Amino acid sequence: MKYLLEVREVSKSYGEERILDAVSLVLEPGKSLAITGQSGGGKTTLLSIIGLLQQATSGAVIVDGCDAGGLEPSRQAALRSACFGFVFQRARLIHSLTALENVLVPAWLTRAGKAAEVRARELLGRFGLEERLHYRPQELSIGQLRRVALARALLLKPKVILADEPTNDLDPAIAAEVADCLLETCGSGAGLILVTHDPGLAARADINLHLQQGCLFEQRRTVHA
Ligand SMILES: Nc1ncnc2c1ncn2[C@@H]1O[C@H](COP(=O)(O)OP(=O)(O)O)[C@@H](O)[C@H]1O
Ligand SMILES: [Mg+2]
Repeated sequence: MKYLLEVREVSKSYGEERILDAVSLVLEPGKSLAITGQSGGGKTTLLSIIGLLQQATSGAVIVDGCDAGGLEPSRQAALRSACFGFVFQRARLIHSLTALENVLVPAWLTRAGKAAEVRARELLGRFGLEERLHYRPQELSIGQLRRVALARALLLKPKVILADEPTNDLDPAIAAEVADCLLETCGSGAGLILVTHDPGLAARADINLHLQQGCLFEQRRTVHA
């Protein structure tokens, strides 16, 4: 089996404090994985190590068969932009750009060209934002911002989507819509790792993991007869 991603015994400490303790997981193509756990438990830290935004203290992250730890920073950055789409806890949009331009930022970095603009418009349309293409972030609601960030994450068809509390602070209807959009991406073979406090969303993922005191446990679902 070729995994999209393997995390092998990753540990992370800040000074004396150990945040992650020999955490391992694998992600297969087309699968979704939900990570739950207490606030301050290290979920965001784990996502940022997986997404090659931060170094682990020890352990390995294997992305698409390549051990990222052994790569030079520029090769790591290339692997990151080729493989990952990020939906951060805060949307992190650029305020001077419109919704459409924000979605296109990853394409500017890779020179993906006109096809990227067609896809950006299509994604924003799919997320119900066709009327808002030229609005700036300050003219959009939280749910709309989140959907713009999601379109940006999906623009270059990443192999792995990393989403940090993507439905937090959203009203239930919009949360459901964002969740649908995220889970839909697995249909095309992408892998999804999402961090959430929402048990309903976690239950929709293929695998549930729980981070507790730095260790990751698989949670079995209770099957009701
Ligand atoms: N750069 C950093 N330096 C020191 N401590 C940090 C840093 N980043 C996060 N932490 C600490 O690591 C712990 C886990 O944080 P985080 O991964 O954001 O948790 P979660 O996402 O589960 O709420 C927290 O106690 C936080 O204060
Ligand atoms: Mg967090």
